[in-house]
Amino acid sequence: MTLIRGSLAFYNIMPVTVCHNIESLRARVKQWRNNNETIAFVPTMGNLHEGHLSLVDIARQKAGRVVVSIYVNPLQFAPDEDFDSYPRTLDDDLKKLQTRGVDLVFTPDSAMIYPHGEQQCSFVEVPVLSHIIEGEFRPGFFRGVATVVLKLFNMVQPDIAVFGEKDFQQLLVIRQMVADLDLPVEIIGGPIKRESDGLAMSSRNNYLGAEEREKSRYLSETLLAFRRQIEKGVAIEQAETSCVKMLESQGFAVDYVTLRQVKSLQKATKDDVGLNNELIILAAAKIGSTRLIDNLKFVIESST
Ligand code: PAF
Repeated sequence: MTLIRGSLAFYNIMPVTVCHNIESLRARVKQWRNNNETIAFVPTMGNLHEGHLSLVDIARQKAGRVVVSIYVNPLQFAPDEDFDSYPRTLDDDLKKLQTRGVDLVFTPDSAMIYPHGEQQCSFVEVPVLSHIIEGEFRPGFFRGVATVVLKLFNMVQPDIAVFGEKDFQQLLVIRQMVADLDLPVEIIGGPIKRESDGLAMSSRNNYLGAEEREKSRYLSETLLAFRRQIEKGVAIEQAETSCVKMLESQGFAVDYVTLRQVKSLQKATKDDVGLNNELIILAAAKIGSTRLIDNLKFVIESST
């Protein structure tokens, strides 16, 4: 079987190498490093969909070797969240990764990641960014994410790591952690992948019943409506309020719909609008018992 690197079109489907322990992961990575190969890493919690696979494709284009991790990280779930029911679909995930030219799938367990228990481990706290917006509704979430990502970086030692822009705040938290701690990893954001009706792809979409799935498209529609209002000159607070009402009228329980500066995620003010600044609308809302998040980046063209 021939395997031609660098062109997705010519990949043969080969069994993907799965590695459960850090020693064998490090041995494999060391071999690659000795051959001067670059390593791109895509951390995931499994239950892979096209959104994840598009990140793998980016990783594939950027480096000679691609490592994907699959680990449902207990440290980023609150006690009342869905850690136990989070879908674990390893066999399907491996089949999908085989088709995308992944070199190694790392599947650690909690004994390996948190040998003293997840409540007893050293942790990473990225200030400010971790405590606003999503952090207000999910205290401890970004601490859990930053901690596991740092640990995975130390295990895999990649040159590049790819994260989805759907979790935009997470991407910024990781970028800040990497900058603050001088980690030698380039962080790349991959664009959001959407279903044909606009719903951002997410493993949690599997929780939606038929009626909820039908309604879920209103989340991305609301982001577009918010942008249209801002472009028309509607005041930010008024646009926020009307978008919350739009979602509530479709049965959503809204955590936030908010317009922010894209670099800092600080609140956008009227001075940020109309200056060719890049802005982002972030939203989180529950439909039934499923919490969805989404975002939309855009630039307001100067009106002058
Ligand atoms: O985005 C995710 O799937 C998770 O937060 C991550 C980055 C894999 C850390 O557990």
